[in-house]
Formats: sequence, C-alpha cells, structure tokens
Amino acid sequence: MRVAVACDHGGYPLKATVLEAVRSQGHEVLDLGTFSPERVDYPDYAEKLARALQDGSAERGILLCGSGVGACIAANKFPGIFAAICHDTYSAHQGVEHDAMNVLCLGARIIGPELARELVEAFLNATYSDSGRYAVRVEKIRLFEENFSNTRQSSND
Ligand code: RB5
Repeated sequence: MRVAVACDHGGYPLKATVLEAVRSQGHEVLDLGTFSPERVDYPDYAEKLARALQDGSAERGILLCGSGVGACIAANKFPGIFAAICHDTYSAHQGVEHDAMNVLCLGARIIGPELARELVEAFLNATYSDSGRYAVRVEKIRLFEENFSNTRQSSND
C-alpha cells in the first residue's frame, strides 16, 4: 500500500527511520516533508497528510512531531482521519483492527528508532476487522463527523 509520512521539526529526527521501516515492509512511501530540521508548524503537516488520505493519494499515514500530541489533535479534525498516538505495539495494531485507525502518530522526543520501527511494522501489518461490534462502534464515530458537519452547516444558514 502507499503510506504517507509527514513531520514537523520535532518529528524530523525520526523521519528517516520511519521511511526505512515503511519501505522494508514492502510499502510505497509518500514523503510529505518537512525536509529539514528548520522550525515549521505541525498543523500544516497534519493537514498535508490528512488531505493525502482524503483524496486517495495514500491509504495510511504516519505523522511525527515532538510528542505526537499536536499532530494527532490536528489530524483528527479532518473527516475520515482516525489518528492515534501509539507508543506500544499492542495499541499500534489493535487500534487498526478494532478502531479503524488509519494514521499512526509518534513522538520523536519520546521514543527511539528501534521502538519506532516495531510500531510502524505493527501498524502496517494490521487490518481493520470491519465487522460485528467493531464496525458498529466505528460507524458511531463516523456519525459524529456527519452530525458535526450538519450542525456547522445549519448554524451558517
Ligand atoms: C515543536 O516544538 C513541538 O511543539 C511539536 O513538535 C509537537 O510536540 C507538538 O505536539
């Protein structure tokens, strides 16, 4: 599959490791930057990655910032994005299997390269169950998105 990767300057030190981990699992990388350690704003990179998933340029995303927090918050504002910070391998695969997580957020100031590699592998090798109680719960989340956008629409009338 094609995996979009994006980071701010806080996540930049871990980006090369993540790109390598994605490629070593046989996946294609869509590298959305940043491309240097120069300071940038994480919402801009969360947006690039979210839009790449929304328009089908990538099926999954990996987003890096210093803690993983800011990037995760920003990404989850975009419909269709199910982003989570996972710094343990159980969550990195279970989040996909049960919760339809499609963006893995990592904090480059929190974890090291070896754990990052294992988290990327767990995330990319997992598949969403898409049935039974898991699908019912995920559908309820999708309805939050739909209802929220309807509320905003009507308040603009
Ligand atoms: C940048 O200094 C830092 O605030 C950012 O990478 C991230 O950790 C935000 O959550």
